Amino acid sequence: MAVFNLGSINADLFYQVPHLLAPGETLASTDHSRGLGGKGANMSVAIARAAARVAHIGAIGRDGRWAVERLLEYGVDTRNIVESDVATGHAVIMVDDQGENAILLFPGANRAITETHISTALEAATEADTFLFQNETSVQIEGATQASAKGMRVVYAAAPFDADAVKAVLPLLDILVMNAVEAQQLTNATGIGLTGLPVRDVVVTLGGDGCRWINTDAGTDQTFPAIPVTPVDTTGAGDTFTGYLVAGLDRGLPIEQAISLGQQAGAIMVTRQGTADVIPDLKDVQDARLG
Ligand code: RIB
Repeated sequence: MAVFNLGSINADLFYQVPHLLAPGETLASTDHSRGLGGKGANMSVAIARAAARVAHIGAIGRDGRWAVERLLEYGVDTRNIVESDVATGHAVIMVDDQGENAILLFPGANRAITETHISTALEAATEADTFLFQNETSVQIEGATQASAKGMRVVYAAAPFDADAVKAVLPLLDILVMNAVEAQQLTNATGIGLTGLPVRDVVVTLGGDGCRWINTDAGTDQTFPAIPVTPVDTTGAGDTFTGYLVAGLDRGLPIEQAISLGQQAGAIMVTRQGTADVIPDLKDVQDARLG
């Protein structure tokens, strides 16, 4: 079993700021660092750290070879990452003293992935495998359509949120992961409550209120309590949660256990500064047992 992750790869440029910028304001940052990021790359690293096999489907520019090397070092299968003529994506990330962030994205090569690229990558995939994607790349519908036709488990982390992007793939999904704000936006856009969505499992992260899992087949709706931690930087915590959730399912864990692992990993992640480079491994998660 393996996870095929159609996902973004970014250079994350972090700026520590006393407060998030207001319109028209100029502000000096108190610290700066650069690391590997992108919701897709973060999830691939989380999956590898959670001890599952992951093949990343993505694109970089010539300036992004360092990112592929780093993904490889982190245990991700990088054979389906292509080099395009467009520059590698990057993100300018402001983090304030409360750990809140604001992110400006340059999508770059992440939007240069083609349908053929997906078919080549999925040639080796079977119905025992999982297809994961987020909303930072091109060909999301094509990828989900091909994966669904192969009988793969199709998981969508609907971030950055766009109601039209979610609606376009809803019938193809087995699992939909969102945060509470995104869930409300989806309900507003579709007029359908979460329990009425045509998706078997809907997982909603609730920040300080924990996590909610709705199984629309069984008609169950379960809440998992939050793990209390003091956040330093929330960037990438949702990606870490999703990566651990998907890895757990791919390894055959019941979804309740996979969600708990995701919560533990996400809780550790908010106490660390950075994204892909600081995602905890399974041993960190098992040793910490927060909550
Ligand atoms: O979710 C965090 C990620 O969003 C960052 O790594 C950044 O690259 C953006 O994609």
